[in-house]
Amino acid sequence: MRGIILSGGSGTRLRPLTKITSKQLLPVYHRPMIYYPLNTLIKAGIKEILIIVAPESAGDYLNLLGSGKEFGVKFTYEIQDKPEGLAQAFIIGENFIDKEDVVMILGDNIFEDDFSEEIKSFKGGAKIFAKKVPDPERFGVVKFDSNLKAEKIIEKPVEYLSNFAVTGLYIYDKRVVEIAKTMKPSERGELEITSVNNIYLEKGELEVAMVNGEWLDAGTFDSLLKAQNFAKEKLAAKMII
Ligand code: G1P
Repeated sequence: MRGIILSGGSGTRLRPLTKITSKQLLPVYHRPMIYYPLNTLIKAGIKEILIIVAPESAGDYLNLLGSGKEFGVKFTYEIQDKPEGLAQAFIIGENFIDKEDVVMILGDNIFEDDFSEEIKSFKGGAKIFAKKVPDPERFGVVKFDSNLKAEKIIEKPVEYLSNFAVTGLYIYDKRVVEIAKTMKPSERGELEITSVNNIYLEKGELEVAMVNGEWLDAGTFDSLLKAQNFAKEKLAAKMII
């Protein structure tokens, strides 16, 4: 299993904090934000990790994280020239993924859960993770049928669909690269991960598991502040990096 951390984007919702640095390098209590998703992957036993960054902050990431030796893993770096969507990561990462399964985590997603077992037991298709939230309109949202099977997923639904947000950790088999290549940009000009998930869903090969612990997308002022406090109270003591 290969790992990808997608740490691109321009962090517009956090301006001016992100005017001169990357969102995922901002402090979350005692560590730069990206350490949290990195910790999640390393804890799950992932040894080869591709870090995808925006061109203007590539040097900062290299200085901060280096080869990966310090963490007992190997880092590869790629540039995402423009924030053209989460699914673009699989096109950028084609050579890195090679013919392996891949777990992608977003650089601004902070999880309390340990995903080791979920990753070890992955047997192909796609597996995503949902969490009940009060503000689903900010996320990809999944609707379950009466048997708790995923029925549909909509990116940032305008009309209420359900309270289950799709979190920023995704596991796919190698077909994800070819699927990503067939995508067309959405109205917001992005290759949407939600479209990738819907393709696996239509094939009957999408599994949706629940996130039990706390989950935060630290991309807004309020969620960043919440993440800081959560890191101090709960996560810091459990981190291995
Ligand atoms: C992205 C995805 C969305 C997902 C969210 C998790 O949203 O498009 O489906 O729920 O990450 O953090 P974005 O950060 O692009 O608004």
